[in-house]
Amino acid sequence: MKKPLIIGNWKMNKTNTEAKAYFDEFKQLVPGASKWVGIGVPFTCIQLANKYRNFATCAQNLHHEEKGTHTGEISAEILVDLKVKYVLVGHSERRAAGEPDAEIAKKLKLALTHGITPVLCVGETRAEREAGETKAVISKQIEGALEGMEKVKGVIVAYEPVWAISDGSGSSPTASEEQIQEAHTLIKKLVSKRLSSPKILFGGSVNEKNATSLAQIQNVHGFLVGGASLDAKRFALLCNSFNA
Ligand code: PGA
Repeated sequence: MKKPLIIGNWKMNKTNTEAKAYFDEFKQLVPGASKWVGIGVPFTCIQLANKYRNFATCAQNLHHEEKGTHTGEISAEILVDLKVKYVLVGHSERRAAGEPDAEIAKKLKLALTHGITPVLCVGETRAEREAGETKAVISKQIEGALEGMEKVKGVIVAYEPVWAISDGSGSSPTASEEQIQEAHTLIKKLVSKRLSSPKILFGGSVNEKNATSLAQIQNVHGFLVGGASLDAKRFALLCNSFNA
């Protein structure tokens, strides 16, 4: 089976002490996966994560300006210095906190300019899906972020329907195969002029039980995994299900 690209997203979880215990365990379970497994850690865990070579380090955000008077923010240049490979851009939890498309576009371009691979997150809310606006929302988010680009290499897109992202209660629904296939086919079409050989990840309650069947869906090239990446054993099981 061709290996998908799997990126964990810890969100606002784990101290360095907890991260070290996780990385030590994960290294034993998934020894050499840096080409196809990444972990999106809090900024504070990046240097520790870099000491482990069995996965790639992903940051969860960057600021949309090069540098300046932005207290508490982290720039692309700082991330380059920390040697991160990937950075999430436009995650729905940040969009919900007010991050506009124009800033997401700037972040994406800054990441690219600095040689970091951006993972552009797009996806509709439940209300938007129910109002029949899924296509329009995804199109607007894609065009907003990629406007003016032509056949750019090295951008990853993650389709994450907001309603399918787990809220920690363990009861969030995963999108159906048809819903995922429809959105990924649309995204592939929308980015075809803008991006060169793009990878399209799926995210939203992906776990060690459903990943192998989700990986069969056309135009699904990997996963962005939140809750199921928080436990080293679970995330290792998920990754190792593609190690056959
Ligand atoms: P989830 O989160 O896997 O817990 O649903 C995915 C994400 O928000 O990136």
